[in-house]
Amino acid sequence: MTENIIKSSERVKDHGEVFTPKRIVKLMLDQPEIQAKINDLTATFFEPSAGEGAFLVELLKRKLKVAADKSSSAKVFNTKSLIALSTLYGVELLEDNVEMLVMNMITTFNLEYSKIISEKFAGKVNQHVLDSAKVIIQANMVQGNTLEKTTSDGSPIIFSEWKPESGNKVQRAEYTFESIINQSGPTGTVQGATEEVDLFADTGFFEDAKKEEPKMKQYALCSWTSIYKQKIE
Ligand SMILES: C[S@@+](CC[C@H](N)C(=O)[O-])C[C@H]1O[C@@H](n2cnc3c(N)ncnc32)[C@H](O)[C@@H]1O
Repeated sequence: MTENIIKSSERVKDHGEVFTPKRIVKLMLDQPEIQAKINDLTATFFEPSAGEGAFLVELLKRKLKVAADKSSSAKVFNTKSLIALSTLYGVELLEDNVEMLVMNMITTFNLEYSKIISEKFAGKVNQHVLDSAKVIIQANMVQGNTLEKTTSDGSPIIFSEWKPESGNKVQRAEYTFESIINQSGPTGTVQGATEEVDLFADTGFFEDAKKEEPKMKQYALCSWTSIYKQKIE
């Protein structure tokens, strides 16, 4: 099957929109340094010009396999699959691409999670996992301009950190993209940009971001499979 790597010459000219073929994505992710990060369930990946998710979708598939290998039961995999998902972040400028990005991530999670749960663990699909996955994806895949660090209405891009806590719990905390970049140094690469950013900024994405933030939601500590409730403290 042929892959469409461009939508129109105008979009290539205006936004540098050329999608990476699957074969190239796989080759790039096969690099040993990237593979090591994929094997680390909590290492974060950030795609600053995400398109429709060529890299993020493949990363998700690979991280879910790692989560399955590290799980001893369906119950453990329910949590680990969400931990794996929560480490993937993306920004994309164009609204139609963001819609596809979110849809592709949700579809991939649902298909891969369901397949692993039934085939590897002979378990049942947990709807709370799917609902929590959707919340994570909608928070982590953001419409915006990576260079300006703002969304199309000019408000700051906000990311959620999903910090694993003891007892299979997670603490969600929000940070502006600006504060993350300022505290941990520039990362990310966008076509046509002079500012150089690493395609795969790994661990430490949130480490140094300080809480000098505009008013952010204060989420309650909860289990990974209760993320969908989005309970505020
Ligand atoms: C070369 S394409 C790559 C897409 C995807 N990473 C892939 O490999 O298929 C670049 C993408 O960056 C987006 N883009 C361009 N400028 C951007 C900006 N300032 N902030 C965020 N995304 C941007 C474009 O809309 C386009 O989807």
